Amino acid sequence: MPTTIQRVGVLTGGGDCPGINAVIRAVTKTAIYRYKARVFGIEDGFLGLVENRIGELTSMHVSGILTRGGTILGTNNRCNPTRYYTGDDKDGKPIFTNVIDRCLETIEANRLDALIVIGGDGTMSCAAPIAEAGVDCIAVPKTIDNDVVGTDITFGFLTAVSTATDALDRLHSTAMSHHRVMVCEVMGRNAGWIALHAGLASGSDVILIPEIPYRIETICEFVERRMHRGWGFSIIACAEGARAVDGQQVVADVDPTKPEPVRLGGVGQCLAQEIAQRTQIEARTTVLGYIQRSGTPTAADRVLATQFGHHAVELMMSGARNRMVVMRDGQLGDIDLRCAAGKQRLVSLDDPLLAAARAVRTCFGDNA
Ligand code: F6P
Repeated sequence: MPTTIQRVGVLTGGGDCPGINAVIRAVTKTAIYRYKARVFGIEDGFLGLVENRIGELTSMHVSGILTRGGTILGTNNRCNPTRYYTGDDKDGKPIFTNVIDRCLETIEANRLDALIVIGGDGTMSCAAPIAEAGVDCIAVPKTIDNDVVGTDITFGFLTAVSTATDALDRLHSTAMSHHRVMVCEVMGRNAGWIALHAGLASGSDVILIPEIPYRIETICEFVERRMHRGWGFSIIACAEGARAVDGQQVVADVDPTKPEPVRLGGVGQCLAQEIAQRTQIEARTTVLGYIQRSGTPTAADRVLATQFGHHAVELMMSGARNRMVVMRDGQLGDIDLRCAAGKQRLVSLDDPLLAAARAVRTCFGDNA
């Protein structure tokens, strides 16, 4: 098969998620077995590119990693080469420098012909200027949040949904025994995909997502009604980005040196307190946190990740440049990687899942 690409660099950026290793394995094996190319793993995302930390990946290195969570290459969500944090000025303000040249030097020093970049919208934003500087890049979308624009699904999402569903299922028995409202806060940033899917799968009574701001009065009326009509408990699946109609998202911390400075978290606790105060029903919170990002990928995520990794190499070897692998209507495809940079795919208000959930009397905290 004629191709000029012989040395492929691969990196993983942003938060980790189950299935990344399955992509690395598929990329490495496809490149080596089908194209006799060599693959080089870049450590800790773009930081490894800036600091020239690279090592060759052989088929031995990727053997047995299909089932492992995390990423064998390490990752980083602090390093954006166009805005690289180098310290604070005398007033304590962060200083940022453009270090794209250092990335290009690393690529040249290691004679990399092309890069495969595995990441979310933040990683696509980092990859876009490197691609514009003339480096051939193919991107693979990843995140548990399922919010990458242009693809119907990202690997990691279904594993996170399965973990969250299991937690919500378990919460039923203790909620029932104590006649409580149990709020379970799940991840997702500004998108409600995990809460919507896990909430629906677990039969949660209330699902709160950022796309549908809630009224606390509506939630309280709903849980009180359930209490009085004999159910005696309520389960609330709450996205970390959920917010009240007249309120703000709850922020866990802000770090101006990070490409994405705001980390969400804490809405579950606020909500439980407010429900308890207003209704006198006991309420408790469980924050699932990083459990959702950890552990072995589900079979479906292993399959998707393997398809994405294989397709990325096939695209690269066929001469495609600066594209991102996508899955649309069950078909593998690709789009310009810049389309996904810095944007998020949110739950649309006409998503059929919302209609299905409402039909089985799920409360979204709005008045619909
Ligand atoms: O994007 C994945 C995600 O897990 C979000 O759901 C969450 O808000 C965020 O990452 C947490 O990021 P960090 O790794 O910086 O704590």
